Order: sequence, then C-alpha cells, then structure tokens
Amino acid sequence: MAHAATPAAPLPHTATVPLARAADAFVMQGDALYLDCAAQGPRLRSAHAAGLAAFEAVARPWQHVSPTPPEQRETLRRLLSHLFDGDADGVALVPSAAFGLATAANSLPLHAGDTVLVLEGQFPSNLLCWQQRCADTGATLRGVSREPGQDWTGAVLAAMAEEPNLRIAALPQVRWDDGALLELDRISAALQERGAALVLDLSQSLGIVAPDVERWRPDFIVSVGYKWLLGARGLACLWASPRWREGGRPIEQHWIAHDGGPEWRFAVEAAAPFADGARRFDAGGLDDPVRLAVAIAGLEQVLAWGPAKIAAALGERTAALHTALDAAGLSAWASPGHAPHLMALTPPTAVIAAADAALRESNITCTCRHGRLRIAPHLHVASGDMARVADVLSRFV
Ligand SMILES: Cc1ncc(COP(=O)(O)O)c(C=O)c1O
Repeated sequence: MAHAATPAAPLPHTATVPLARAADAFVMQGDALYLDCAAQGPRLRSAHAAGLAAFEAVARPWQHVSPTPPEQRETLRRLLSHLFDGDADGVALVPSAAFGLATAANSLPLHAGDTVLVLEGQFPSNLLCWQQRCADTGATLRGVSREPGQDWTGAVLAAMAEEPNLRIAALPQVRWDDGALLELDRISAALQERGAALVLDLSQSLGIVAPDVERWRPDFIVSVGYKWLLGARGLACLWASPRWREGGRPIEQHWIAHDGGPEWRFAVEAAAPFADGARRFDAGGLDDPVRLAVAIAGLEQVLAWGPAKIAAALGERTAALHTALDAAGLSAWASPGHAPHLMALTPPTAVIAAADAALRESNITCTCRHGRLRIAPHLHVASGDMARVADVLSRFV
C-alpha cells in the first residue's frame, strides 16, 4: 500500500538523568559488579517505575489507560526510528531477533545455487533461519572463518570474492562473543557492487554504535530491546528498507499488521491491505503495556544520552580494564579490536573455570563461554570499578 513517509516527531519530554549522573539512573546493586550487559542490560529506575505503573494500571482492565497500547506502539516505533533513518514507517515491532531475521529470510529472494554468507560462531538467531531457508530453496549457506592474523572484515571480503553466486550476507556489526567489530562501510560497499542483500543483527551494537543506513543500504536490520536499548524482553525491532516496506512477506498474518478499515472488518474473499510501511511486519502478542512502557523509558534514556556519548563513556570503562590488565601482566588475555562496550578475556584453559568462580565469589558477573570471559559494562559501572576484574584475575597469572 502506498504511503507517505511519517517523519519522526520530536522526542517526548521525559524525566531522564543527565550523562554526568548516569550511574544514578540505574537500579543500584551494592557491591555487585555487573558486567554482563551483553546478556541482559541493567535496569533503569525510570524503566522499572514505568513498568510497575503499567502493571498497576492493567490490574483494572475496565479502566481506560492512557496511553493505550496502540499509542505506546507508535511512540516506541518513533523512538526506535531515531536509531535508523528517522522514519517511523521503517520500524516493525517483533518479539525476538530470531522472529525479525526469519521475516527477512522469508522476504528476500533466494534460489538453488545462490549463496548466503554468515560468520562461523555467529549468534544462532541469525543462523537457524538461514539454514532453514537454504534447505527450503537449495541455496548454499557458507560460514566465514578467519585465517590466522585475519580480522573478520578481511575474512568476509575474502569469502565474498570466492562466491560467484552470493545473494545475501547476514551479519552482525559487533560479535556477541568477544566484541570484535566488523567494518560495515567496506563490507556493504562490496555487497552493493555485487548486488547482494545485507541483513544485520545489531542486537550487540544498536544503542551504542550507530548504523549508517544511508551508506550501508541494508535490506533489514534487527535488534533485541533488552540489552543495549535498556528495554524489555520479548520486544525487539525490525527495520526494513523502503523496498521491503512495500513488498516484504511477514511470517505471520496478524490482524495488527493489516488495515481492517474504519469498521475493523476482514472479508473472506480478499485479505485486508497491509498496515503502512514496516508495520506489515508487526507481530501479534506485543500489546503488553508493561513491556511497551519499559521499552519506551529505556529508549528515551538511551536517546537522551546519545549512543555516541554512551559509546565514548563505555570505551573509558573498557580502556580502564586494559590498563589494569596491563599492570597485572594480563594484557595478552584481552581480545584485540573490540567495540567500546564489549570485550573478552581468554585465560589459559587450565585456569578459566577457577578464574570464573573467583570472579563470581567476588560478586563480579560476566559470561564465561567457549573459553572466554565476556566483559560488557554499562554506565552503572565506574571506570575505577574495572580494576576489580584485573585484581581477581591476577591470582591466576
Ligand atoms: C547477536 C545476538 N542476536 C540475538 C540475540 C537474541 O536473539 P533472540 O531475540 O532471537 O533470542 C542475542 C542474545 O544474546 C545476541 O547476542
């Protein structure tokens, strides 16, 4: 259905906390040092209060609650659009990254003999849907791995050069396991030259590292809301390029993504037209005032601080950890070339279980998986706190 782009309205005026006092914005934690924001973002006080207020309000369903869930959905869509191209029509609300990525996989043309590129070890939400789509179509799925000394960007570019029938690259900007950054300026330019599609899972970067949709010209972007967007579980976003806002195929046909007209009627003979823009991809089951309220409050704070400023501040936190690791003689454990907010430490195999246990005993939370300790602070953590990690790990030198 043709529609005019809806420009994003000015951000609503809300009680957000200034960057200089960012730590006060979060539910406090005593001496717990929570460094697992790549798993689950810390809870903002504002989001917590908004969620509780919505929970109270829905206890009395006979009362009219303002804003209504449809109004909340549009507010959230507008806020999310500020992270992309400012056009609220480009954003759909979905329950998970996997749902959004399956939508992308369902919409993009793919045929026998085509190739889809992913990274080895990429998060499974951006893998399983491509395995299924390739099995359904006879296309080939290629997992890119790195040669020694090669970075991920070099590995992707080299793999692309070897694939004559490359059709789709489905990639992250920041790897979920060690924070390695991909240079999407270079990768997207090479994909455009080849006429191949780009699908991005930015669950580990949106809200910190801004996507350049004008330059990268991705087809679809997804992100969960509960990590770096400081929002709620069960509420993710799907950005679609203008082409797919008009022609993409949703994986479910929920009534919310269709226009039932002023009388909200759905005829048997012909499906009701899609709702405007990427709303055609809106999933059902998301009209939960609590989740929506938490997501809105989280995004209002993220946008008030600004992703670039959050990134700079988190870069100071991870830099402080590097300094402390250097002083402890542990610099070789740290992952190189990582994003400002996410890094990994690779202790020798013989000590990693003990190192992980020692961190937990010291009330430091991070993820230990695949031989790495993943470290991901947000602004509830002060740079000075990061030395605690090196202090504990220095016992294992
Ligand atoms: C890169 C990435 N994508 C997606 C997800 C979560 O995806 P889903 O919403 O499908 O569970 C995670 C969670 O850790 C992730 O790290």
